[in-house]
Parts: sequence; structure tokens; C-alpha cells
Amino acid sequence: MSSHPEASTATDSVESDLLEGAKKVAIAATGVLVAIVVGLIILASFVSPKEKENPNLTAEAVAKRIQKVGAVTFVDNSPHEPKSGEQVFNVQCSSCHANGALGSPKFGDKAAWGARVAKGFAALWNSALHGKNAMPAQGGGPLSDLEVARGVVYMANAGGAKFPEPKEDAKPAK
Ligand code: HEC
Repeated sequence: MSSHPEASTATDSVESDLLEGAKKVAIAATGVLVAIVVGLIILASFVSPKEKENPNLTAEAVAKRIQKVGAVTFVDNSPHEPKSGEQVFNVQCSSCHANGALGSPKFGDKAAWGARVAKGFAALWNSALHGKNAMPAQGGGPLSDLEVARGVVYMANAGGAKFPEPKEDAKPAK
């Protein structure tokens, strides 16, 4: 370009005009964008003025909603923390006994439980521990004898029995 200084000057001025024009357009566009964003923020604050008092938007509530999908809750299976009868029922027995699946006596159904309760706790505990017909041993789960006993008492009592809470050191008949 140094060999044609005049020509390059003309080109330069056209280029710089174009550049000036482009700059103005860019500045104007940026201004419009900023105005839109500010407008939206103001609008949003009108749409939900009570946002701060909403109990669904507290830090804990939000954290709970956005927690990782695969988050694992460990169930304590240690022998020092045996499950309650209700917990045993919920994790291991309810799949059948909540709705009477496979011909099982349904939870809370006194007619279905009556004759079974009459056999006494030891017989029911034994059935639950070792399985009976369609019922797998221990309801199919890794439970201690005490936990199975608690599950039996919980279910039988809901079906009309008045079995006492099983003692921690109770031993099933083999
Ligand atoms: C896979 C389904 C299933 C699961 C899970 C299950 N049961 Fe049962 N349960 C049955 C069926 C079916 C019967 C009826 C058995 C029969 O008398 O033929 C039954 C019967 C019983 C009886 C009465 C036994 C008797 O001698 O009359 C008790 C007590 C019992 N279940 C306790 C439990 C407990 C406690 C759990 C959980 C730890 C459990 N069951 C889990 C299917 C199940």
C-alpha cells in the first residue's frame, strides 16, 4: 500500500466510515439489550413481589430440590440399631402385606389376621423367619430375628392381636 499513498487514503476513509457506522450500530444494539434486561428484571420483581417470604424458596427448600439425583441415603443396618416394626414393615413386608399380594393377610385386615393371630406369636414369628408358601424367609430381606419379630408384632397388632413388643434377647424356636 505504501506505493499508492493517495489511493490508500481514499480506501482508509471509506473503511473508517464503515467502522464508525458499525460501532454506532453496536453501541445502539448494546443499549437496547441493556434496556431489555433491566426492563425484565423490573418486571420480574413486580410479578413475584412475595418471593422472599415463599417457603418454597428458602435455602433449604431449594437445596433439597436441586440435590443430586443419585444422592444416596444410607440405611443403618448395624446390629446396634435394629429397625422398628413399622420400619421393617415399610422396607420389607409392605410390598405384599400392604395390599394382600400373593394371598398374604393384608395389613389391618382383622378377618384375615384373626385365625393366624390365634396360633400365637411364636408360630407367626417362625413363619416369617423361615417363610411360608408364597412368603420367602424373612420377607426376603436381610433382617435380624429381632427385626422380623418386630415386623410380625407390628402387623399382627394392626390385625387385632395384642402381642407385646419382642424382647431384644428373645430367641425363636428353631
Ligand atoms: C413376597 C410377598 C411377601 C412378603 C415380602 C412378606 N410376606 Fe408375609 N406372607 C405372605 C403370604 C403369601 C402369606 C400367607 C402364607 C400362607 O399362609 O400361605 C404371608 C403370611 C405372613 C404371616 C402369617 C404366617 C402364618 O403362619 O399364618 C406373617 C406373620 C407374615 N406373613 C409376616 C411377614 C413379615 C414380618 C414380613 C416382612 C419381614 C413379610 N411377612 C413379608 C407374603 C409375603
